[in-house]
Amino acid sequence: MSSITVGILGATGYTGVELIKLLSNHPSATLSFVSSQTYSGKKMSEVFPELKYVCDDVLLSPEDAIKQTVDCVFSCLPHATSAGLCKPFIDKGIRVIDLSADFRIKDPKAYAQWYKTEHPYPQLLEKAVFGLPEHYRSAIAQASLLANPGCYSSSIMLPLIPLYKERASQLTGVIADSKSGVSGAGRSLKLSSLFVEAHENFAAYSIGRAHRHLAEIDQELSYACGKKVEITFSPHLAPINRGILSTIYINGQLSAEECLEIINRAYTNEPFIRVRDPGDLPSVRDVAYTNFCDIGVAGGGSGQPVIIVCTIDNLLKGASGQALQNMNIMFGFKETTALQ
Ligand SMILES: NC(=O)c1ccc[n+]([C@@H]2O[C@H](COP(=O)([O-])OP(=O)(O)OC[C@H]3O[C@@H](n4cnc5c(N)ncnc54)[C@H](OP(=O)(O)O)[C@@H]3O)[C@@H](O)[C@H]2O)c1
Repeated sequence: MSSITVGILGATGYTGVELIKLLSNHPSATLSFVSSQTYSGKKMSEVFPELKYVCDDVLLSPEDAIKQTVDCVFSCLPHATSAGLCKPFIDKGIRVIDLSADFRIKDPKAYAQWYKTEHPYPQLLEKAVFGLPEHYRSAIAQASLLANPGCYSSSIMLPLIPLYKERASQLTGVIADSKSGVSGAGRSLKLSSLFVEAHENFAAYSIGRAHRHLAEIDQELSYACGKKVEITFSPHLAPINRGILSTIYINGQLSAEECLEIINRAYTNEPFIRVRDPGDLPSVRDVAYTNFCDIGVAGGGSGQPVIIVCTIDNLLKGASGQALQNMNIMFGFKETTALQ
């Protein structure tokens, strides 16, 4: 396809703004509409002066947005709201990329259990393609409904899927200890996101298999090896704006060298995955404001766990960058367009 039109539902959130910036550098995609509930009728650049001359479009209300016709719609809405506003586009045969969790979980019972609400369109869950390009590229190319993975999940699945694919029986007691910047919680008002609460603080939350991203992490690791997998996941809020660093402990029979070799082999030709030399560990700063995922492996030996460190920018490889990567694959553009 030579060029496409796109729309963004929920354009005024953190992921929506990132998408607008990325799309403004895409030679083959034109932004046709942006929507907001709170700011409809205002120009995007009135709400975000940084976007003057980048996006001066008037924000549509959700009701007007769903009347639009484009080639591709991105939904940057909260879960539960997203499925309802994506459905009219799906019905019109428009390809949808949903950044929320609404189409990530295949089992409607699991969705209801983790997200505390019945899925409004359970029949669509099978149709949705899980948008992790490094593992589902050919399905993504054909997808009409794409479920973009979660941010924490991406930082955990990317290093672990190759290991579960090849050596699941040798992996035990896997623990993902993840730290996220505050933008991971979105732009809406929350006590824990206030400057005084988050700055100079560092706190664990939703530990003990309580965080919703476990639904998709367990699902995808189980697919990778063909048996039920449940890992331990401890999320933390770090006093930084953006970025995720996941430290993953593996108490198995694999050595650090074997893990590194498997991960390296899986991602040799991947443009956005950078695997470090033995013992060289990435930090958030290495990937912030990029679509890269950096992975380092250390530890192991003398019965000690192998330790993997994986970093991504939650708003890019963890959200809008990965969504654009998926759009590029779906519409036959070079996968790295507007991302490097
Ligand atoms: N932040 C991340 O790092 C990240 C990473 C991966 C995935 N995600 C997922 O991506 C989605 C967007 O995340 P975000 O961080 O960009 O969220 P956000 O900053 O809270 O923005 C949410 C957007 O949705 C709109 N919205 C909220 N409630 C609405 C409703 N009832 N009806 C219509 N529009 C509504 C908001 O519009 P107005 O405020 O203008 O009304 C805003 O544009 C979420 O599902 C999130 O879980 C986020």
